[in-house]
Amino acid sequence: MSTTLLAMNCRKVFLTLGGGRGVTNAAFGSHFVSVPRRSIIDLSYSTHFMDFKGSSIPSSMKKLVVTKLSQNFREAVSLQIVPVPTPGDGDLLIRNRFVGINASDINYTAGRYDPSVKPPFDAGFEGIGEVVGLGLSASARFTVGDTVAYFGSGSFAEYTVVPAKAIVRVPSVKPQFLTLLVSGATAYIALKRLGDLAEGQTVLVTAAAGGTGQFAVQFAKMAKCHVVGTCSSDEKSGFLKTIGCDRPINYRSEDLAGVLQREYPRGLDVVYESVGAASSIWPSTAWPRRRARFFLPHFLSDYGEAMADMLRKCGSGELVCEVDVGEMTPEGHFVGLESVYRAVDHMYAGKNLGKVVVQLPAAVESKL
Ligand SMILES: NC(=O)c1ccc[n+]([C@@H]2O[C@H](COP(=O)([O-])OP(=O)(O)OC[C@H]3O[C@@H](n4cnc5c(N)ncnc54)[C@H](OP(=O)(O)O)[C@@H]3O)[C@@H](O)[C@H]2O)c1
Repeated sequence: MSTTLLAMNCRKVFLTLGGGRGVTNAAFGSHFVSVPRRSIIDLSYSTHFMDFKGSSIPSSMKKLVVTKLSQNFREAVSLQIVPVPTPGDGDLLIRNRFVGINASDINYTAGRYDPSVKPPFDAGFEGIGEVVGLGLSASARFTVGDTVAYFGSGSFAEYTVVPAKAIVRVPSVKPQFLTLLVSGATAYIALKRLGDLAEGQTVLVTAAAGGTGQFAVQFAKMAKCHVVGTCSSDEKSGFLKTIGCDRPINYRSEDLAGVLQREYPRGLDVVYESVGAASSIWPSTAWPRRRARFFLPHFLSDYGEAMADMLRKCGSGELVCEVDVGEMTPEGHFVGLESVYRAVDHMYAGKNLGKVVVQLPAAVESKL
C-alpha cells in the first residue's frame, strides 16, 4: 500500500493542510474590525463617485456571504446585494477583477478556522484588482488606479475594503499574479522553512498539478531536486512534464505504491502533501511519525519576501503560474460571483489544472 511504503521509507513529510485556528482573527481578520472612519472619499453623502476611468461606482454590489456553517459550499454561502463598503483611514477600496478559489474555502465555510466566528461572515481569501477609493493615511502610499492584490478575507465580492498594510502591489491585473498570493506563497514558504531541500534529493508532491502543487514542483526543481508528482489524469501528467516534474504519476492509471517501490526503492527524502483534507488517498493512519505541518497565516513574516521573489520570477517567465478559468468546463469560463459555486465544484471534482480563478466584470454596471 502506497501510504505504508511512504511511511517506512520517507525521511520527511510535511503537510500543507487547510486546517488550523485563528485564520480570520489572528491572521487577517483583525484588519477588518470596525474602526472610526476618516476617509477622504466619503460615500455616505454621495450616491456614487467617479473612479479613475470615469465609470461610476454603484452604491450597492454583490458579495458572497456565509450564512450557515457547512462544508457544502452551496448550502453555506448565499449571494447578497449589499452597500459598497467605505474605506477607513488606512484602507483601500478595491474593485476585484479576479478572485482565487482555494481548497480551504470549504474549511472556512464550515467554520473550522475559528469556531468563535459565527455567520454571517464574508467568504473568499484573495483578490486582485484596482484601487477605486482610499482613506487619508492610505493615500500616502497608494492612489486611485493602482493595481493591487491581497490575501485577506472577503474577496468574494465586487468591491472589498482592505487595509493598505495588507496590500501587495502588482505590475498589472493578471490572474497569474493572483496564483501567488496563497498557492505560490504556501509552496514557497513551506519548502523554504520546513523542506530543507538539497540538491539531488527526491521530493514527492501530491495534487502536483493543482493551484499549490504546481509551485511545489517548480520550487523543488529550482532546488535541483528530483521531483515526483501525483495527479489524476494524463492531461495533468502532460502539464507536469512541461513544468519540469521528473516523474508524474497518474494514480488513476498507475499503481502509486508499485511505482514508488519499483522506481524509488531507496525511498523519498521529502513528501509535500498538498491533498490532506481534500483527499483520502493517503489515510491519516498511515502518516509517518516524523512530519511537520504548515499553515500559511503562521508564517506571514516571510510573506513579503516570498511575494517579491515570486512576482519577479513570474514576470520574467521563470515561474509558470497556470490558471484554470473554467474554459474547458461545459458552462465555460468562470465569470461573475455566481460562478464561484461552479468553480468550487470544479476543484472538488479534482478537475482543475492549475489555480482555479474566477473573473469579475471589468466595470460593474451602475444602476444610478
Ligand atoms: N496550510 C496552508 O496554509 C494551505 C494553504 C493553501 C493550500 N493548502 C492545502 O493544499 C491543498 C491544495 O489546495 P489548493 O487550493 O491548491 O487546491 P488544488 O490543489 O488546486 O485542488 C485540489 C486538488 O486535490 C486533488 N485531490 C485529490 N483527492 C481529491 C479529492 N478527494 N477531492 C478533491 N480533490 C482531490 C485534485 O488533484 P488530482 O485529482 O490531480 O489529485 C484536486 O485538483 C488543500 O488541501 C489545501 O487545504 C494549505
